[in-house]
Amino acid sequence: MSVTEQPAPAPGGDHGPDHGPDTGVDAAAEQLRDRISADSLTTRRDYLRIVATVSGGLAIGGVGVAAGILHRHGDNETLPKPKKVADLLPPGEAVAFRFPGDDDRAVAVRLKDGSLVGYSAVCTHLACAVLWREDRGAEGELYCPCHEGVFDARTGEVTAGPPPRPLPKVFLSEEVDGSVWAVATARSGEPAKDALCRQFSDARPEMAARLGCPGGDRATESRRT
Ligand code: FES
Repeated sequence: MSVTEQPAPAPGGDHGPDHGPDTGVDAAAEQLRDRISADSLTTRRDYLRIVATVSGGLAIGGVGVAAGILHRHGDNETLPKPKKVADLLPPGEAVAFRFPGDDDRAVAVRLKDGSLVGYSAVCTHLACAVLWREDRGAEGELYCPCHEGVFDARTGEVTAGPPPRPLPKVFLSEEVDGSVWAVATARSGEPAKDALCRQFSDARPEMAARLGCPGGDRATESRRT
């Protein structure tokens, strides 16, 4: 079932997509995961518009992050709890949020063509805050004012300045009511499939199998027996 086939959200519900006011956050999270596990992740782009990153370094963490001492965005091995980051995100606008942890700064951007992208908002140079600048470049840029670092808004790749690596991505899901949810993360430069398999394999083996993750079929089969 794709998102577009999901029942409409219960009126007045504020606990997440398709949940009435009496359902819990855990139930909302589970249902969102079910949606992600629908057979459309890789084939229906209007169902799961993905991307981007999570923060990893703290303000004090430039050196620590570089040295591998502190937690970095995307380091989680398990599937994070989905987090609603916006009720609606119009083209050209961005929203800052924290995901998967309270210290993990991230940003979601709706590009002018409707694409939805998400990244860590922690610069990969020395961990300054990365800002969305709609007025820069052809379609806006992710900009670090500390040393003029610039990241491509569509890919997270470095386009200017000293950052050594692309921004880690945060995978986003847009629901039928227009709400935007952060659902998973990737490490800097990590292929999307590898990142999703790493996080979905234990929590959602069916999804891992659909993605073609190594061992996904075995995991699904073992759950049935
Ligand atoms: Fe971002 Fe240096 S900390 S460019």
